[in-house]
Amino acid sequence: MSATNPTNPTSQPTRLRRGETFEGEIETLAYGGRGITKPGGYVVFVNGGLPGDTVRAEITKSKKGYAEAIATAIVTPSRDRLADVDIHQDEACPGASWQALSYKQQLAYKEEHVADALTRIGKLGDLSIDPIIGADQQWRYRNKVEYSFGEQDGELVLGFHPRGRWDEVLDIEDCHLSSEATNQARNEVLAWAKTEGLNAYDPRDHRGTLRNLVVREGRRTGQIQTRLVTSRANFPRPPVDLHTIIDGPSGSTSGPTGVLGEETLRERIFDLDIELSHDAFFQTNTEMAEKLYGLAAEYAGLTGREKLFDLFCGVGTIGLSLAGQAGQVWGLEIVPDAIENAKRNAKANNITNARFVAANARTGMRPLIEEAGRPDVVTIDPPRAGLSAKIVRRLIECEARRIVYISCNPTTLAPNAAQLVEAGYRLTRVRPVDMFPQTPHIECVAQFDLIGEVRYVESPTDRKRRERDERRQATKEARSK
Ligand SMILES: C[S@@+](CC[C@H](N)C(=O)[O-])C[C@H]1O[C@@H](n2cnc3c(N)ncnc32)[C@H](O)[C@@H]1O
Repeated sequence: MSATNPTNPTSQPTRLRRGETFEGEIETLAYGGRGITKPGGYVVFVNGGLPGDTVRAEITKSKKGYAEAIATAIVTPSRDRLADVDIHQDEACPGASWQALSYKQQLAYKEEHVADALTRIGKLGDLSIDPIIGADQQWRYRNKVEYSFGEQDGELVLGFHPRGRWDEVLDIEDCHLSSEATNQARNEVLAWAKTEGLNAYDPRDHRGTLRNLVVREGRRTGQIQTRLVTSRANFPRPPVDLHTIIDGPSGSTSGPTGVLGEETLRERIFDLDIELSHDAFFQTNTEMAEKLYGLAAEYAGLTGREKLFDLFCGVGTIGLSLAGQAGQVWGLEIVPDAIENAKRNAKANNITNARFVAANARTGMRPLIEEAGRPDVVTIDPPRAGLSAKIVRRLIECEARRIVYISCNPTTLAPNAAQLVEAGYRLTRVRPVDMFPQTPHIECVAQFDLIGEVRYVESPTDRKRRERDERRQATKEARSK
């Protein structure tokens, strides 16, 4: 292990190189859940340690200013580790990397990470952050699980990749983040595959048949939907609802899908009956989705007259749950099947003031404004990557007096928030919601209010175009003199 030069404490910390091992105490958790330790002052992000643990770790990536490492052993466990969680347990359940932290501490870190992202990345001060809404159910809350097939000692297994190992799969008979019914569905498909003598697809040589099993659950309807993902191969009809075939080396689970059982998943949220096609997004924690949407409704503050845009609307759940409090709802979403679900969901629930459009937010927002007129209020719920600068500009063009931004990643919310503030919005309040106990994932809702007029911020392309036009105009005028 290396350190700063003790005779010269101001010397630069010595960089640790890939493959080197060291021991260090984890000081805190970074956004995303990795532990931070500073052997000799050099910052290392460690996968697999909690604050107060002294870990032995191996450097996996080394840069001048920091490195990444994986914990290979816990030398001294933190006093904060929950006594009933075995320190190796998270290896068997790689999705629950915070399970050794008390739930209270998990919530405190999540609150801190939201505040930190907005102040450090968004450079926003004077924040009003409402206290985090904790989850009712800390285990068995997931309504969707994506398992991978693999082989261990020549035997077929169905589970999850250990952290950082795309080519290995750990068998998991009971995933504690999902329901018993989901686990049973997984066990039945594995038993069938073993009886048929099928093998797993190997991503190293691209051979083999079975790739993934996706299990989704209607928590309120009790429906379980299974989708088997395989290479193209001949084998007896599988005992699943849907069968997706993937050609080639893609690691994706999306592809042409045949229907063998129930094609759509049915769920209830608030008092709405919802249908979902297999490639439509749905919030992974149904019970907490109601809390999230309830908070979005509170922040939207609708009075019954407003025109509401529900951007990135999925199967329409946010817009439909707010339709009774709005004049009109317009939903926009890129996945056409999700929009078909949203239209049918409106009809099934006798909602007549909601319209849905299948379009990319990047190109579809100007046509939407042309068709619907400008909205009073916008709800926007993008994927983890947040909004591109161009989509933020389109959002600003809506000139909505209020924007309610539902974010599953505070580090992408932060720069988007800064852009909205630059355009004349105030970040009125933010509140984290814990949709994913035992994991570092954070969801939050932010309310932006327009103060006065929108200030348009020119894009680099628009600026170049304007400067070119101004030059041409100046030349024309000079010639005509
Ligand atoms: C986090 S989900 C939110 C869905 C929905 N609001 C809900 O609560 O279930 C993000 C949604 O954005 C959609 N999406 C991703 N990129 C998009 C884009 N460029 N334009 C429009 N929709 C997009 C995804 O298909 C997905 O349904």
